[in-house]
Amino acid sequence: MAMSIAQAQATGINYDESKVPAYTLPDPLACEDGSKVADAAAWKAKRRPEILRLFETQVYGRSPGRPANMTFEVTSIDKNALDGKATRKEVAIYFKGDGRDPKMDLLIYLPNDAKGPVPAFLGLNFNGNHSISADPGITLSQRWMRPAKDGSVVGNRATEQSRGVEARRWPVETIIGRGYALATAYYGDLEPDFPEGWKMGVRAALSKDGAETQFAPDEWGAIGAWAWGLSRALDCLETDRAVDARRVAVLGHSRLGKTALWAGAQDERFALVISNCSGCGGAALSRRWFGETVARINKSFPHWFCGNFKQYGDNESALPVDQHELIALMAPRPVYVAAAEEDLWADPRGQFLSALHAEPVYRLFGRAGLGVDDVPPVNHPVGDFIAYHLRTGKHDVTLYDWEQYLAFADRHFARGSK
Ligand code: GCU
Repeated sequence: MAMSIAQAQATGINYDESKVPAYTLPDPLACEDGSKVADAAAWKAKRRPEILRLFETQVYGRSPGRPANMTFEVTSIDKNALDGKATRKEVAIYFKGDGRDPKMDLLIYLPNDAKGPVPAFLGLNFNGNHSISADPGITLSQRWMRPAKDGSVVGNRATEQSRGVEARRWPVETIIGRGYALATAYYGDLEPDFPEGWKMGVRAALSKDGAETQFAPDEWGAIGAWAWGLSRALDCLETDRAVDARRVAVLGHSRLGKTALWAGAQDERFALVISNCSGCGGAALSRRWFGETVARINKSFPHWFCGNFKQYGDNESALPVDQHELIALMAPRPVYVAAAEEDLWADPRGQFLSALHAEPVYRLFGRAGLGVDDVPPVNHPVGDFIAYHLRTGKHDVTLYDWEQYLAFADRHFARGSK
């Protein structure tokens, strides 16, 4: 088939706004039978399941549900953590039952001055639970880690030197001080992040053929495995009386931002969803030719998405969904999409446009979206139930980002005076 000029140009990597070809997004309200959704009931009963199924079969792959024999074991508790301000708990989540692999270690900080169950932020971390704070009471992860030149990981094992290496991205004391719990787990507990990593992760452990498994083209990839782990963490938080599991915000940065969105889309128990610089395969529109592309992400990270997603490289117009529909799957729950000015790889405008084009679905619920129709100035958060900001600086999670998320959660969880 002959390619149009626009299609022929739209390969490789583009950073020039004037070169972005025109594209047509799928209509989130147009059902497969040609009818159009007119109210929230029809969205929930008919169109939402269609879109969810398309993301499952064409993008991230289908995931299993909650394992029947899963157990939780509190492995440590310190009521005097962070100078007495917090209780630190570690809980082993055994997916197949007591004391057996596979497992995930959930680290939880709870504010000690709480008057009742507290809302929580939940997210996966990149470097092990011990990396999110220098708190020496956190168990050093024994899992596979990516090698690091600075001595924090030697022979794929974390060393004492890696304590707190990710602390800048997790302002634990601020979060606790605002009356929230923080729960986090190492994404490598679920699947080490490299193409063969699944052999050491839950995708092998939960399949009947283990590391010999051949995945069908619509079965889960690594993002699916990580997102599944977030739901299991929420299962665990539901059993913790100190946490109000009906007010859990799921968040993540970059590949873990893609993961947080996919977790929030599948699991409506998450009350609020935050995407930090998630980019391609996250909040950024796939059809918009700017920054990372579907072809490129499939090539660099062949394990992240399902097999079917491979067919859309340099062929985004054939995708039956686009990422604005992933944002729409959060409706009517509050969702925050954050981007950074210098993070062009993740396409800040493409992330804004996803948020914008999710609005018709929020409108069905009478919920306001961004309140603007173009990317706002830097460091100028906008939005009501769909929020967005473009922070100055690089691909990262900063205190500025957290301050916006805390204010957003305060507002939607009806906390504080704001
Ligand atoms: C790479 C990748 C992105 C991803 C990022 C990250 O840059 O191309 O898609 O979001 O890594 O996870 O840090």
